Amino acid sequence: MIVTGIKPTGQIHLGNYIGAIKPALELAKISGYQSAYFVADFHGLTKIHHAEEFRQLSYGIAATWLALGIDPDQVIFYRQSDVPEIFELNWILSCFASKGLLNRAHAYKAMVETNKEFNRDVDFGVNMGIFTYPILMAADILLFKANTVPVGKDQTQHVEIARDIAESFNHVYGDTFLLPDYKVQEGTAVLPGLDGRKMSKSYNNTIPLFEEPKKLQKLINRIKTDSLPPEAPKDPKTSILFTLYKEFASPIEVERMHEQYLRGIGWGEAKKELFHVMNRYLEEPREKYNELMASPEKLDKILLKGAEKARALSIPFLKEVKRKIGFNV
Ligand code: ADP
Ligand code: TRP
Repeated sequence: MIVTGIKPTGQIHLGNYIGAIKPALELAKISGYQSAYFVADFHGLTKIHHAEEFRQLSYGIAATWLALGIDPDQVIFYRQSDVPEIFELNWILSCFASKGLLNRAHAYKAMVETNKEFNRDVDFGVNMGIFTYPILMAADILLFKANTVPVGKDQTQHVEIARDIAESFNHVYGDTFLLPDYKVQEGTAVLPGLDGRKMSKSYNNTIPLFEEPKKLQKLINRIKTDSLPPEAPKDPKTSILFTLYKEFASPIEVERMHEQYLRGIGWGEAKKELFHVMNRYLEEPREKYNELMASPEKLDKILLKGAEKARALSIPFLKEVKRKIGFNV
């Protein structure tokens, strides 16, 4: 089983797409495994505390998956909060997760370091949702007996934590949880944003995946480039524009563009070409996305149907887990 989720904490951007969504979709296509994709809305709550924004962002993740070609009849596609067993397992697992393990989680550690830098209390701004985030993620993964978890590079530690927790439980009660492995798409770049740093909603340097064409073009024009003259040869390996171009163009187009870089291409021209291939690729999914966002009741229906499929697996397995622990269920 392949399991992966996306938390609704911001508009999906190209970095999310290339680093997380595209590899997950490709993996499901080639592996022949059963796959489960979900909207990690409980995880989103660690950050988003505004009801309308939370609702829209959650729908946005669901619409993104569907617009990019997930077939809810083929995969299990649901919203985390519609599967209450995840939450029950979350508590059980938290009793097998040492605090020290969570102290070492990168996201929490990074917040502590920032607080130290600014001479604030080390736990300033850290809610318990952020601290225990990896346990909930372990519940997402272990409840569905995932053996493969496609994630971006920054999420691999969380999958390792899920393994650690599963091992602690199995050590006491015997083999119960499958030990999951993460799968990071080889060669997947950490996509730089408009300013050259990692594209991230935290840096405000993103290109939203389903941006309208005019705005998309404007954002592409804002991508930072150097001041080489148009005729000077350019290094495709270090160019953000080329990194992006590769993701959306055909192999022949990529080869041709590679040659053009070596011969010398003006950045204006490179940006125009990038917009062309990107817009061509995104046109159809964007339309589908907009359609779905305009009919949330349709999304709800699909998600609830998916949750039923998910619960057909999670209810009996959680029962099995609880029996092992000594609950009379
Ligand atoms: P953000 O950095 O915008 O907050 P998230 O932390 O929500 O993004 O990441 C969601 C998924 O997208 C993760 O699996 C992460 O690895 C991937 N991802 C995010 N930004 C990038 C990027 N710039 N390049 C590649 N993958 C990314
Ligand atoms: N933590 C992941 C992220 O920030 C999202 C996520 C939640 C997830 N639960 C998961 C990913 C389970 C894979 C499997 O991107």
